[in-house]
Amino acid sequence: MIYLDNAASTWPKPKGVADAVKQAIEEYGANPGRGNHQLARRANQAIAHTRQLLTQLLGIKDPSNLLFFANTTQALNQAIKGLVRPGDHVILTGWEHNAVARPVAFLQQKEKVQVTYLSYDAKLGWAKQVEQSIQENTRLIVTIHGSNVSGEILPIEEIGEVARKHGVFYLVDAAQTAGLVPIHVEQLPIDLLAFPGHKSLFGPQGTGGLYVHESVPLEPMIQGGTGSRSEELQQPVERPTGFESGTPNTPGIAGLGAGVQFILETGIEKIYEHEMKLLYRLWEGLSNIREVQLYTLEPPELPIVSFNLSNVSGTEVAMILDQHYQIAVRAGLHCAFLAHQQMKTEQIGAVRVSPGYFNTETDIDQFIQAIREISQAFA
Ligand SMILES: Cc1ncc(COP(=O)(O)O)c(C=O)c1O
Repeated sequence: MIYLDNAASTWPKPKGVADAVKQAIEEYGANPGRGNHQLARRANQAIAHTRQLLTQLLGIKDPSNLLFFANTTQALNQAIKGLVRPGDHVILTGWEHNAVARPVAFLQQKEKVQVTYLSYDAKLGWAKQVEQSIQENTRLIVTIHGSNVSGEILPIEEIGEVARKHGVFYLVDAAQTAGLVPIHVEQLPIDLLAFPGHKSLFGPQGTGGLYVHESVPLEPMIQGGTGSRSEELQQPVERPTGFESGTPNTPGIAGLGAGVQFILETGIEKIYEHEMKLLYRLWEGLSNIREVQLYTLEPPELPIVSFNLSNVSGTEVAMILDQHYQIAVRAGLHCAFLAHQQMKTEQIGAVRVSPGYFNTETDIDQFIQAIREISQAFA
């Protein structure tokens, strides 16, 4: 199988990832932070180790400001619902994933939160547009760092500067960039950053996290056992424990540590360079097929290309690739209806191809050849 769906979850993983998961299950499958015996301590150390590696990769000074969640969606929900109050105003871009758009729409309906969605205006640029939308009650700006549909990267530094200038919190959805594009959160004007463990950080599914700047008054979204202050009925707000109630995914987090270790050893620039080399080959190959419609004028800044064939639906293309060519891609709306509205593909969706670090140029060539054959077969 040629796997070209890395924007959903990266696969395969570096070898050390499965080894670390196996080791956590077979050698120290105890409950971390819930007891003081050797095995519980070892599980705790595994989690602390991954937290420490992530702080190194993402430029976070204090590891307690890095909170683990099961995926980006949970991290984004915690960030949005733990910060926005009834009657507040929130600014989003029109490129947001449902993991942002839906919790915000929920608050809009339940808590009378006001929402502004921005469509890109090339004359103004993102930061100016954000600035013009700020109101007296604006509490939060949320933007993707990189689009999971168009592969575009947003100027988070400029947007963050606007947020700081106006005293508004800024949350970045780094689902498509964490582990692939260098991010040093404490050198950026960012208050919160949500990320998946299972995409470019090479961890297993069921892992993700949220960076929260120490000054952000975030309220825990989930209440429960933290292994600390058990005599109190009030949820502790200390980080990270107050935000990580319940038994964590120790094997997954141990595997995530091995994924981050792989990035630190390989070098994030080398990973990005390889994936972008594949992207350019992919872009060029698709551009040379007459029936292919691409949705960006230039090659994207992330290893993601969305396209359609003029003579056959995206769903059918993906199905033929899977069944006939053993190639995995994703068709449809990619949980990002707003983004497809921006591309005017909300009725038809698109085929998304996303190479990863373990793909080769041959994989890309075979994919291009398959698309050529499919478009000819339907001509
Ligand atoms: C931009 C973006 N945000 C959020 C998510 C949700 O990520 P997760 O599946 O880790 O919850 C995704 C997943 O594809 C994404 O691409």
